[in-house]
Amino acid sequence: MDVEAINERYTSLSETSCCLSCGGAINHANAQTSEICVDLGSGRGNDVIRLAEEVGETGYVYGIDISEGMIAKAKSNLAKFEVENAEIIQAELEKLPLEDNKVNLIISNCTINHASDKAAVWNEVYRILKPGGRFVVSDIYATSPIAEEYRNDPVAVAECWAGAVTRAEYLTILEAAGFRDIKIFEESDPYPKGYAEVASWTISGQK
Ligand SMILES: C[S@@+](CC[C@H](N)C(=O)[O-])C[C@H]1O[C@@H](n2cnc3c(N)ncnc32)[C@H](O)[C@@H]1O
Repeated sequence: MDVEAINERYTSLSETSCCLSCGGAINHANAQTSEICVDLGSGRGNDVIRLAEEVGETGYVYGIDISEGMIAKAKSNLAKFEVENAEIIQAELEKLPLEDNKVNLIISNCTINHASDKAAVWNEVYRILKPGGRFVVSDIYATSPIAEEYRNDPVAVAECWAGAVTRAEYLTILEAAGFRDIKIFEESDPYPKGYAEVASWTISGQK
């Protein structure tokens, strides 16, 4: 994948208060005391801090992100709020640096659409979840396939639309990864973004 365009866009956004989310995954996550959690595309670290509070000192939270600016901002936010049961790791979603069957809960907000190999990401999500573990993810899908000319355009992908797959493709990838009990908590009406029409949703599933 072209990490450069993602890094450039999100490093420049890391010091702004611009809204980066496309749903409220964390509001449906219901994190419990002592759980081990992961936030994929943790941005400035806001959801990591909230999860760390929810799981308490016997739980732990990993924030994963690729952009240098976001990593620096999230680390400084964790230090500012004296969060000790969380850390931010620089890594790509397709290669999560966590062991198999380790995690109770994975959340993500408006990030997985950026990944060029979504099947690899969802296989990683499945791999690191404990049996019975769950994901709660907010993301976007495209209402029809993104035109070939934009699909591999790193800047358009970084802008949160050109990397989107269709709704049907999304569900197929989840099922192929092995998830069951897939639920949809929120789903928007379609709206235009870039040169496409997309919709956002918050979904969950279980290993
Ligand atoms: C739209 S922002 C969302 C940030 C945060 N989840 C929030 O809701 O505020 C997407 C984040 O995902 C990160 N990201 C995008 N593609 C990634 C990838 N392939 N691997 C890891 N992080 C990625 C970006 O650096 C950025 O911080």
